[in-house]
Amino acid sequence: KRRIKKRCIRKERNKVLGTLTGQFLKIGIIGAMDEEITAIKLVMNIRSEKTIAGNIFYSGKLFGKDCVLVKSGVGKVFGALTSQILISEFRAEKIIFTGLAGSIKKELKIGDIVVGERCVQYDLDASELGFKIGQIPYTDYRFFYGDKKMIDIALKTKIDDTKIKKGVILTGDMFQSKKGKGKHKNIFEELNGDCLEMEGAAVAQVCTLNKVPFCIIRIISDNADDGALSDFEKFKNIVANKSSKMIEA
Ligand code: ADE
Repeated sequence: KRRIKKRCIRKERNKVLGTLTGQFLKIGIIGAMDEEITAIKLVMNIRSEKTIAGNIFYSGKLFGKDCVLVKSGVGKVFGALTSQILISEFRAEKIIFTGLAGSIKKELKIGDIVVGERCVQYDLDASELGFKIGQIPYTDYRFFYGDKKMIDIALKTKIDDTKIKKGVILTGDMFQSKKGKGKHKNIFEELNGDCLEMEGAAVAQVCTLNKVPFCIIRIISDNADDGALSDFEKFKNIVANKSSKMIEA
């Protein structure tokens, strides 16, 4: 009996130690599209699934870690919604987002990966009230910074000869092609953006407000120009492999 008791105490102690050292961390993973979460689902050992607000959350083990995986859907509202559910319902202690982005820097080519050093909502404009572009009115929030440790790990990942670079991610509820890119040129320059997408800063804001470390990873699918739509559609189908490799790291 005493031996069993001792074993139980040891098990409990190891569990506490594991939690403290991050061994039992629960990681929330958000993929923007079906293509990405399908690739991750294939390598994930799914133990349960739960639908909340129409989104399916898959819980289980991924590369030996406790994970909850969800497809967010497109746009800032879905990004924020799924992040908050991961944190409040599933107690995610870290969040990784993977998806596609349009490049607005010449040196960033289709297939390259941007790891978000910071994200900002480029379509948030309360300048008439005296706030900066991207600044959340009546707060000091504007740029949301990814977790340094997670960023470093992401930057060290090797995926064949893929270029992986730290950058500024601009988020807005718009798919940008040439027309929109021209219209928002000054904003992109002011914010010193590297790429455009539609969820990152929303996920980042929710994580920041909840003090949950996060990392936004974006694979360049197009150049937000005339060819954006067809490049995006083409690239969507070959992205899965890269995002699952980044998550593994
Ligand atoms: N995601 C991928 N490409 C994009 C673009 N051109 N605009 C907004 N979001 C994107």
